[in-house]
Amino acid sequence: MDKYMKKQILLCLLGCLVAGVVRATEVPQVANVMARQITSLNGAWNYIVDVQEEGYYDYRMNPTRWGFFCNAKPQKPEDLIEYDFDKAPTMKVPGDWCTQDQRLFFYEGTVWFKKSFQVSKPTDHRKLLYFGAVNYDCRVWVNGHEAGHHVGGFTPFNYDVTDWLKEGENVVIVKVDNKRKAEAVPTQIFDWWNYGGITRDVLLVDVEPVYVENYSLQLASMEGRRLSFSVRLNKAEAGRQVTLNIPELKIKKTLTTDADGIATISMKAKPQLWSPENPKLYKVEIGCGETTLNDEIGFRTIETRGKQLLLNGQPIFLKGISIHEEKPFGGGRANCTEDAHTLLTWAKELGCNFVRLAHYPHNEYAIREAERMGMLVWSEIPCYWTIAWTNKDTYANAERQLTDMIRRDQNRANIIIWSIANETPHSAQRDQFLGNLAQYARSLDSTRLISMAMEVTGASNYKNRLQDNMNKYVDVVSFNQYIGWYRDVNDAPKMEWEIPYDKPVIVSEFGGGAKYGLHGAKNQRWTEEFQENLYIENLAMLEKIDGLAGMTPWILKDFRSPRRVLDGIQDYYNRKGVVSDKGEKKKAFFVLKQWYDKR
Ligand code: GCU
Repeated sequence: MDKYMKKQILLCLLGCLVAGVVRATEVPQVANVMARQITSLNGAWNYIVDVQEEGYYDYRMNPTRWGFFCNAKPQKPEDLIEYDFDKAPTMKVPGDWCTQDQRLFFYEGTVWFKKSFQVSKPTDHRKLLYFGAVNYDCRVWVNGHEAGHHVGGFTPFNYDVTDWLKEGENVVIVKVDNKRKAEAVPTQIFDWWNYGGITRDVLLVDVEPVYVENYSLQLASMEGRRLSFSVRLNKAEAGRQVTLNIPELKIKKTLTTDADGIATISMKAKPQLWSPENPKLYKVEIGCGETTLNDEIGFRTIETRGKQLLLNGQPIFLKGISIHEEKPFGGGRANCTEDAHTLLTWAKELGCNFVRLAHYPHNEYAIREAERMGMLVWSEIPCYWTIAWTNKDTYANAERQLTDMIRRDQNRANIIIWSIANETPHSAQRDQFLGNLAQYARSLDSTRLISMAMEVTGASNYKNRLQDNMNKYVDVVSFNQYIGWYRDVNDAPKMEWEIPYDKPVIVSEFGGGAKYGLHGAKNQRWTEEFQENLYIENLAMLEKIDGLAGMTPWILKDFRSPRRVLDGIQDYYNRKGVVSDKGEKKKAFFVLKQWYDKR
């Protein structure tokens, strides 16, 4: 018996002492988690960097039963345990490892996290372990029991771990791997930093055996002002009572669930409508059993009529900006209301009423803060560039991310557009993949608009033509263009546009790079003057587009990207922000502000 087997058996004995082998079930994400009875597991977590996944595979690359998830401790002096979480350093959760441990700035691989927490064993209630997001590939164990495996770095997931919790000290261990893969979503290359880690909240959620899993409350239509409410329980149980209370609208309803545990109702109401000028939110109480869920919900309608975009029945122009989910200063994943408030305040100062949250679902704090600040939102899943269109698992992954994005934010009045992709190469396989996704999104939510960021396909003799088979699946035709930066510098004034679709048009990206404080001639790359001039020329050019209903220039703030390596200028930042990574406003900021102030 060789040395590895001896060690493994030792570890096994120790491991099994600690753990059973029962598998937990992943349960559908619980909506409005912050309104539930929660215990935060945020804070300092021990971590172990495991480049070769020693903690998960044996030396034959087979998953081992005596991995780091056993959290084994030597029982006798001669015991060999080659890891110890409690001696390992700690980092803050939620957070990314790239900006918390200098050794991990560029690191893409596996890191193990461990957190001990106290629990008083619930009586008949259930305990769900909730993750706001973990980038990218995540495995979870509670007291040595494997809870589950999740992929996708930007959407929530939760496990019912009740059966494994014990009175007193409990341990959760999370294996996080952010390695990029061709079949993943996003795929291998993308122009943002691959921040690894447990990037959003970790919560223990206390729920009754039967609880409200999710609900939707919307203004059904402008005509006759009807609200439609539907609620889904975690159990397919008929005859359960659910109450809906909207005190300010004097609405007090009791619904009874059907055999699927679902109840719906439509009711007359005359709410003030949510809009950027008046981001009115109503206190809503949803009761089931002993539990009441409080929420704040706004009511509005969004629709298209030909090339017009109508908010609450009135034409609207979307004065937008694109934003990555990065802290306002110095990089790192943003993950709280304060981060969002700072970024959105800059957008407000720009004169924006709309933000494109690129290229993945941002955290719920940001969405809710935008809603309170009267900021309309475009929310997107990371089907970015060359996705593996024919891979069934890739499609299932994309569909899962779309489901989780919509299920988390379906009650946010400020979200008006679900985007299913960005800059994807044309092919029949792509069309099928994205066509299915678009129809699926519509089946989940028929009250919002579907779009995607397309690319200009034909450009010659200053004639730019947008031709994309996906036009028939989207409500709003959006495209990215980089005239003045990646092509046709100083030719913007000569450009003409042909967009042969009777739908509103959003220019979802345009822009150019500038290093804050670098000044020079307007044809000198990287100067603020070059970027300023590019904005002046692009805005004049885009104004001529028939059906232009909005834009989200690329981008609010310089953001980290491993693709931006020009020393002294980029230094691993994409410099297309109109604000620098230190919050300094570039000249282009004021060009865009002036243009928006006039609209
Ligand atoms: C693309 C892409 C962005 C990228 C930008 C750029 O259009 O969608 O993610 O950052 O161009 O090149 O700066």
